[in-house]
Amino acid sequence: MTASQDSATIAASEPAAKRAVVTGASSGIGAASARALVKDGWTVVCLARREAKLKALCDELGDAASYVVCDITDETSTQAAIDRIIAGGPVKALVNCAGAAFGKDPVATASLDDWRGMYELNVLGTLRITQKLLPTLKAAPGGGTVLVISSTAGIEPYEGGAGYCASKFAEKVMARVLRLEQIGEPVRVIDIAPGMVETDEFSLKRFGGDAAKAAAVYAGVPSPLKAEDIAECVRWALAQPDTVDVDSIVVRPRAEGSYTKVYRER
Ligand SMILES: NC(=O)c1ccc[n+]([C@@H]2O[C@H](COP(=O)([O-])OP(=O)(O)OC[C@H]3O[C@@H](n4cnc5c(N)ncnc54)[C@H](OP(=O)(O)O)[C@@H]3O)[C@@H](O)[C@H]2O)c1
Repeated sequence: MTASQDSATIAASEPAAKRAVVTGASSGIGAASARALVKDGWTVVCLARREAKLKALCDELGDAASYVVCDITDETSTQAAIDRIIAGGPVKALVNCAGAAFGKDPVATASLDDWRGMYELNVLGTLRITQKLLPTLKAAPGGGTVLVISSTAGIEPYEGGAGYCASKFAEKVMARVLRLEQIGEPVRVIDIAPGMVETDEFSLKRFGGDAAKAAAVYAGVPSPLKAEDIAECVRWALAQPDTVDVDSIVVRPRAEGSYTKVYRER
């Protein structure tokens, strides 16, 4: 995605106090987070690559939401998005939701392209946009927040998940070390690690569009988490006083003790 494809008009009147950038806002947890934050009084700039989905979300959310088309794996696209966002005013929170799993193959045969894609998006894309927004976040009145949606895949690796897990371990380490490095600075770093969340696209993309394989992930699980459950964690964590840093949240459905210990009704 090139800078010229950035298409939103950032509302000139966005208030400085509670303005957040949400990456991956075109679907799933990111879209739900944008909705939850707007409901909680935030102004939200929604980022992702698919303009039609971003536009539909912003039409739904009204004046409190705007969007910028942005591919966080692309330096030019991301810099153009950052320039537009900063021109629109201060930013108080960055919610890093953009991410994906590609494939579920064993280490012995996994695709290098899948691994590369996950590193480029989950690790380097998150790093890129976090680096670019950090000075702006720290300059926000009262201080800013970097929030990362990592995963329980970044806590316990599982067979077939080495590439995704490695990228999520890296994302968690990035958040943890940033937190340590920024002690004394006006910025909070929050890591939210969800377990199984049934979103429309995540597993479908993981399995290359194979709907049966995607459905099998959630089959028989009574009440997997929904995107809205994670959005509520995001909303709550950001709603704490500026001096309260919710370092990390691990959130799973009641039926999931770990990736490999899941209760399913047959
Ligand atoms: N679902 C789960 O079970 C689960 C569990 C734990 C953690 N997570 C994490 O939660 C996050 C969101 O997952 P989800 O379930 O909501 O999945 P999703 O619906 O597939 O959302 C992924 C989002 O990332 C965006 N994205 C992908 N590539 C991008 C790029 N190069 N530049 C900018 N945006 C990009 C997508 O939008 P575009 O395609 O329009 O760019 C989409 O909005 C991910 O980081 C995932 O690893 C999910």
